[in-house]
This record gives sequence, C-alpha cells and structure tokens, in this order.
Amino acid sequence: MSLVVFPFKEEDPEVLLASVKVALAHPRVKEVLCVGASEDHCFRAVSAAAPELTRTYGKPVGIIVQERIGEMRPGKGDGMNTGLKYFLEETDHRRLHFYDADIVSFSEEWITKAEEAADEGYQVVRHYFPRSSTDAMITWMITRTGFALLWPRSALPWIEQPLGGELLLTREAAEKLFADPRVRRQSDWGIDTLYTFAMVAHGLSIAEIYIDAGKLHKLYGALTDLKTMLIECFSAVQGLKGEAVPEGTMHHIEYPGPVRQEMKERIGYDFERTLWLLRENWTDRQVELLALFPREVREGLLTSRQYPRFSFMDEDAWAEVYRVLLAHFDARDADWAELLFKLWIARVLQYTTAVALRGYDYAMYHLHRMVARYVHRALVGA
Ligand code: LAC
Repeated sequence: MSLVVFPFKEEDPEVLLASVKVALAHPRVKEVLCVGASEDHCFRAVSAAAPELTRTYGKPVGIIVQERIGEMRPGKGDGMNTGLKYFLEETDHRRLHFYDADIVSFSEEWITKAEEAADEGYQVVRHYFPRSSTDAMITWMITRTGFALLWPRSALPWIEQPLGGELLLTREAAEKLFADPRVRRQSDWGIDTLYTFAMVAHGLSIAEIYIDAGKLHKLYGALTDLKTMLIECFSAVQGLKGEAVPEGTMHHIEYPGPVRQEMKERIGYDFERTLWLLRENWTDRQVELLALFPREVREGLLTSRQYPRFSFMDEDAWAEVYRVLLAHFDARDADWAELLFKLWIARVLQYTTAVALRGYDYAMYHLHRMVARYVHRALVGA
C-alpha cells in the first residue's frame, strides 16, 4: 500500500542499495522508486541491481532520471516532484515515503513509525532525529527563524526539522502539494522549505516522529559547502513572505529521547577555515549594500575584512538583519549572495562561540528558546 522514493545525486550506491533493500523487505512497502539527478555512477549501479532486486523481493524497483518540472536551478526539487508525480499518476498506492539516499543508519523503524502515525490518521508524517549543536545552521538561522518572524501563529516555527527530506505523505496530502504551483516551481534546495510550508498552508495534519539513530550524515568542511543551499533556502522563505498560512493546524511532536554522547560531541563544521571566509571575496558593491543594515552589523562586518569579527551578530542583531534581507535580498545578484553568506557566517560563528561552546544541552535548549523569542517578537513587537 506504500511507495518509497529515494531522490539521489552522486551518492554512494552501497548506501542507497542497502536502504532500498530495507524498504523492499518492509511488509507495508509495495514498490520502490529511485529518482536520479542524472545518469551518474550511482544511477548505473542501481540500474544494474534493480532487476535482481525486483525478482528477489517480488516488488517493483524502478529507477528514473528526474524530470524538469520547476523553474529554478534544476536540483533536489525536480527530483522530489518527479517522485510525487510518479506516485500520483503512475500508481494507486495510498502512501508515499521520501528518504534521502545518504542515510547510513536507515532501518525498518523509519518506515514502521511513519506508517503507524499515518494509521492514527495524520496526513503527513515527518521524521526528526538528533543533530549536533553546530549542525543544522541553515535550519535554525534561516528556516526556523524566518518561519517564526513571518508566521508566528502558525505551526511552521515549531516544526523540528523543516528542511528534512524524510517524510510520509498520504495520497490526499500528495495531491494538495503537487497541485500547488509554488511547490512545483521550486526545483532547487528550496524544495524542503516549500513542502513544509505547503503542508501547513493547506492545513494538513502533521505528526513528527523521533528517530533515535539519526542520520549520521557526514559533517561539513568550511561552510562554503553550504553556500548554494543557504541562498536557495533563504530565497525560498523570502519568496513566500506575503503568503497566508492558517493558524490552527493539527500538529503533534513526539517527545525526543536521550541523545547519545557521540552526537553531543560532534562538531558541525571546520571553525578555522570558516573564520577565513569573512575576509574573502569583498567587492565595493557589498560595502555599499551594508549601508542598509544596522550600524554595529555594518561596522563589524567591515572590520572583518582585516580581522574576523562576529560577536556583534547576536540573536537580536540577526532578527534585524533578517528583516533587511527579506526586504532587499536579490538572489540573482552575486554580491547579495556573497553578503548573505558572510552575514550568516558571522551569525553561526557568534552562536558557536557564545552558545554551543557551553555544551550540547544548553545549546539545544537555547535554540528552541530562540525560536520562541522570535515568535514573541513577531507577535508582541520588540
Ligand atoms: C541544515 C543543513 C545545513 O539543516 O543541513 O541546516
């Protein structure tokens, strides 16, 4: 009764095939589809293995290249939307699961827990799992911050991992998402933001389930690795800023379990290499654009051209910066893109040294309180 879709791009075929087998072995899963960004080495490896897997498990294992559905950079959004379209147009399964292809800890539990929540009547089920206190810096500083400032009365700020690619959609939820032109347009990294937004905007009931083993995906080097994702995730929020969202969505979050010491000790990115990024790639135009920002931010970032500075970018400064960005940021302009990147780096470094350094439990509590304070600011003013 369920289809499992794995969108992928240049992944390790061993990891993906192991997850495909876990899915095929699950009694609720009737079909698996892998959607590749292109015919890369992973695509060839999965294509070669698919017929044998289909025979062994007696369930279809498909592999297709993603279609061009959206209007932004062709990326993960086209991949997920290709899976969504396949589910709706080529099958009559009742439920659709999406899982990222890089989960080394994928197990039967991911599927079972999602199916159980759907059995209870939720239209959408989202997986969440523990992450390092210095990981998820786009999630916290861009997505959850933006959701809190823009839609403080909705369920959006409270969704644990709004950029998560692991979720279950019932057929009615899938229909609502695919019928929404804002979702279909978003072919890039903004897709996770758009799926999350659309779930709440369409008033779907949402359960968030906790997966203790987590994803154990590899951590990042210098934060440059995340620049494109940052820009596309911010633009996605910015593009939605005038849209209305209902307040009373049914939303349940499973209480998290104790976090393993290994996760608490993980470091999310390379601090020393990231510091250096504040000094690089300055242009006269970026200096001009800084005039739009509060004085401490402008002066602090300008000083960073000689010596890395970031202590000015605390939670309150970031809220002000975020509002300027919502009003003026232009993703097509390379200087704006670079400036957003530097502002976000300053924010991440400030958070790392002022908050994360105090320990995992302190940091996670602080981040959740930060979202609550942004919600309060948006509702009550500050
Ligand atoms: C996030 C990306 C960085 O969730 O993984 O913020």
